[in-house]
Amino acid sequence: MEKKASSFSGQIGFVLAAAGSAVGVGNLWRFPYLAAKDGGGLFLLVYLVLVLTFGFTLLTSDIAIGRRTKQSAIRAYESMRPKWKFLGILTFLVPVLIMTYYAVIGGWITKYAAVYLTGQSAAAAEDGYFTSFITSPVSPVVFALLFMGVTAFIVYNGVEGGIERVSRYMMPILLVLVVVIAGYALTLRHEDASGQMRTGLEGLRYYLTPHMEGLTVSRFLQILLDAMSQLFFSLSVSMGIMITYGSYVKPDVDLNKAVNQIEIFDTGVALLAGAMIIPAVYVFSGTEGMSAGPSLMFVSLPKVFNAMGKAGVFVGILFFVTAIFATLTSCISVLESITANCMEIFHSGRKKTVLVLAVIYLAASAVIALGYSVFYFEVQLPNGSAAQLLDIMDYVSNSVMMPFIALLSTILIGWVMTPDYVIDEMQRNGETFRRKKLYRVMIRYVAPVMMLVLFLQSTGILA
Ligand code: PFF
Repeated sequence: MEKKASSFSGQIGFVLAAAGSAVGVGNLWRFPYLAAKDGGGLFLLVYLVLVLTFGFTLLTSDIAIGRRTKQSAIRAYESMRPKWKFLGILTFLVPVLIMTYYAVIGGWITKYAAVYLTGQSAAAAEDGYFTSFITSPVSPVVFALLFMGVTAFIVYNGVEGGIERVSRYMMPILLVLVVVIAGYALTLRHEDASGQMRTGLEGLRYYLTPHMEGLTVSRFLQILLDAMSQLFFSLSVSMGIMITYGSYVKPDVDLNKAVNQIEIFDTGVALLAGAMIIPAVYVFSGTEGMSAGPSLMFVSLPKVFNAMGKAGVFVGILFFVTAIFATLTSCISVLESITANCMEIFHSGRKKTVLVLAVIYLAASAVIALGYSVFYFEVQLPNGSAAQLLDIMDYVSNSVMMPFIALLSTILIGWVMTPDYVIDEMQRNGETFRRKKLYRVMIRYVAPVMMLVLFLQSTGILA
């Protein structure tokens, strides 16, 4: 097999780039919402157990496959077993789909950062602001194209000179910003119209306390499934991204340490995001104020920032800059994964490949950005929710394809290749792969069953 020329400079560069991919809107707008909805500390406990077992298994597999094959998804699966090339192609299709809408979300965030930086934060807190923004036929397109252009520029500059360099700056800054905002959220106090005083510390207690009231078996299963789907979206596994990044890791890097550090970074930011968002929302709108997805970030939080008065403008700027960093480093990982696969398949150079992909995705981003105006239509998903173009892409890639791919890849590694294929790579330089036994059991028995259940549930087959 032809050798890859690109690589990360070393362990830290790799860990920061991989953490850059992992930490994204999932950490900022999905994790806090799920924690608030699924029993606070109870969700946190379930999530932590899953990180250490299930997340660790999938992340280890992807990274080890990448480094061992030195290829991206399509060629990697093909080189393991030619008959399994189809799985590589399926895996490749996930970032291909995600890329159509990720820059659109990045564009929304950039717009809000611009709004806060130019002193229009009060307008952003008004009812209907977000809806009127995304249904406009111009502004969302302009910001999506801008975000897509910046992403392409970074990937164009290569693995070490582009992706690693950007991640080395952005990830540590992001971490500091999340800590600062969370610290501030804990100092908040506010008296509502009925005279009830709520504090940030109470909000934190609400977030961390396991709420067991009314817990039934079926509700616990729902919490488990929520945590599982959140986890593997959050770690960017089963979409070929960590395979691509793994293929750039030098042979002497200790993958055991790298996997641990990526998990700690991703989970740490998720926990801190909860500690900044839940107390802030709690103080200004009580326990009912948490909403899911975009409406948390673009509707609820601007109201919270507005209620903070002058400080809110500053906190808003810090928050949206944090969100830009999180989204940009994820977006570049999506484009890099597509680029690397195309380079291997078409034997083309990086610059040419990125330019062609940039043209395709600038067009695709514009179409998706217009999915709320010019190309508006709505369908009902099997899980019952109403979806526009962006939601459909998200549903197909994350809820249908990712669990299906994860299921097949656990079968390939657990039963066809056998777990030693990954274990050997983890011990390549004589390191001890401490969770070896756990890995074997997880990859062969537990993970396939869990992925099957998740797949059946998210496609609506298992109601
Ligand atoms: N892991 C990212 C997050 O938690 O937000 C999301 C993500 C990144 C999804 C990259 C997909 C992707 F290709």
